[in-house]
Amino acid sequence: MQTPSRIVESNQDGIHDKLDVIVQKHLTTTFQKPYADHSKRAFEYVEKWLQTRGSKPIIFDSCCGVGDSSRALAHKFPNHVIIGADKSEKRLNTERAEAMPENLVFVRADLNDFYRMAVDAGWVLDRHYILYPNPWPKSEHLKRRWHGAPVFPSLLALKGKLELRSNWKIYLEEFRRALELAGFKANLKSLEVTEPFTAFERKYNNSGQQLWQLTANLN
Ligand SMILES: C[S@@+](CC[C@H](N)C(=O)[O-])C[C@H]1O[C@@H](n2cnc3c(N)ncnc32)[C@H](O)[C@@H]1O
Repeated sequence: MQTPSRIVESNQDGIHDKLDVIVQKHLTTTFQKPYADHSKRAFEYVEKWLQTRGSKPIIFDSCCGVGDSSRALAHKFPNHVIIGADKSEKRLNTERAEAMPENLVFVRADLNDFYRMAVDAGWVLDRHYILYPNPWPKSEHLKRRWHGAPVFPSLLALKGKLELRSNWKIYLEEFRRALELAGFKANLKSLEVTEPFTAFERKYNNSGQQLWQLTANLN
């Protein structure tokens, strides 16, 4: 049985007052933290898998959790390759009755490394989904949100049509502002869910929460 999920509680009532300074800093510096060995192994594994699939356009499903959206994307885009990435092995290993789509790979990886390795390797995405990222709603955790993190410039360098979803509108308002600082326009709108796309979307929708969607073209 699913537990009802609570709405995001935060000590912020709008965009973080340090957002611009932090994003500008990350846009003008290089994130130099060394890659973890497990990240390097994960990246090599995906690179090898990609070689077996020919040169097809790549879709990232970042923070894919149990991977419902990755599977749906694999069916929706049969001529693309889908990379579902999450740092939680437990979520990725959730058992499924249906067979694994041939154009989908799951990888356990910390995207703070994986994004940078993908940029180093010259990958360019066709589409990039970041659905219900952890909101890190305490104001002191701004740098843990993707737009406040030092890896943000690499996320942008991967290009593609970007889509984020969240149950916390401020997260997406901040992301939109961070994109604006980097020279990109984004659309932010409320999302009406008919068929839930991810496990968290189902949970939030069942508990009657308003959900939000941000889209941007990073090409
Ligand atoms: C709220 S869940 C959303 C999962 C899925 N997208 C959904 O909507 O059901 C956020 C996911 O982000 C993953 N995550 C958080 N930080 C990450 C990181 N640095 N690298 C990879 N995955 C991360 C977590 O393990 C978790 O599965």
